[in-house]
Amino acid sequence: MTTAPEILGTLHNIRTVAVAELDGVEDDAALEAWRIAYLGRREGRLTLIMRRMAELEAEERRSVGVQANDVKALLESQLAEKTEALKSAKLAQAAQEGRLDVTLPGRRPALGRLHPITQTMREITRAFISMGFQVVEGPEVELDHYNFGMLNIPRGHPARDMFDTLWLDHTNAEGEREMLLRTHTSPMQARIMEATQPPVRVVVPGRVYRFEATDATHEWHFTQVEGLAVDRGITFANLKGTLYEFARLVFGSERRVRFRCDFFPFVEPGVDVAIDCFSCDGAGAPDCRICRGSGWIEIMGAGMVHPRVLEMSGIDHTEYTGFAFGMGVERIAMLKYGIDDIRYFYGNDARFLRQF
Ligand code: PHE
Repeated sequence: MTTAPEILGTLHNIRTVAVAELDGVEDDAALEAWRIAYLGRREGRLTLIMRRMAELEAEERRSVGVQANDVKALLESQLAEKTEALKSAKLAQAAQEGRLDVTLPGRRPALGRLHPITQTMREITRAFISMGFQVVEGPEVELDHYNFGMLNIPRGHPARDMFDTLWLDHTNAEGEREMLLRTHTSPMQARIMEATQPPVRVVVPGRVYRFEATDATHEWHFTQVEGLAVDRGITFANLKGTLYEFARLVFGSERRVRFRCDFFPFVEPGVDVAIDCFSCDGAGAPDCRICRGSGWIEIMGAGMVHPRVLEMSGIDHTEYTGFAFGMGVERIAMLKYGIDDIRYFYGNDARFLRQF
């Protein structure tokens, strides 16, 4: 027969042991085992002992019940407390492991920049924009018709040898190759004149291609800026004035410009344009790296638009005249920045590109 003192003794014992055991609990699994051992609905020690209270007299049962409920409340509140404590310990540990030192210096994001050829191209076009030219772009895959024919270079013309051409694998009904990668930006002269009536003042920046071996001064693709002005009364003096101004804007206010006869089938007369060497100031110093002792640096081809070219594009050459020019952007960038090998521009070596 169960007696009240027995139950009270057991309650006291449960309370002491449970509290002591809970002290040693360090993780969720142990805590759950502890809960089941003492408060578990079916086999928990406290549950079992409370069930045995049914054997007591009503009087005793009430006073023992009060005590039992006290123990139960105590264990439950300790369980809640421990659950909280474990939770915050876990948080603290996570914070410790993922700790962030906000006093460390940040990582500076690497800033990109424009390619030196893009920068130079923009500087060139800016100079012409300041003189009232518009900027136009054209196709890199071009027709023989515009790249050569409309520029007074028909099939079989020896001037085609000036431009080693990359052809597209495509032939017309007559079995002729008719598409190519443009060898210069000049085809845009014909395209623009065909599409608009004078006055015309445009510059055409863009990439061109030549079927050539690469070396320090040759690339199989490079960049040109073409220029075209057509109007009534345009003379060679306008060509000279425009290119003088360009040379001074891009290479410095003291520059002199030299024009010498040259041949391009789409201009007449044609010239090559040189500036006096900005490195040795035109002195032609024998050891000058830029002009190699000549005192002059050739920077572009130019000339008065050939009357036949005007005519083919639908512009009356008895009413209008024009001038055109074309320059290599890589060459100008090499001169400006003192770069001695064109291949650096497309080698994608960040150590080179970062300098600009
Ligand atoms: N298109 C010529 C070249 O690529 C340059 C040029 C342009 C010459 C316009 C005269 C007039 O060499």
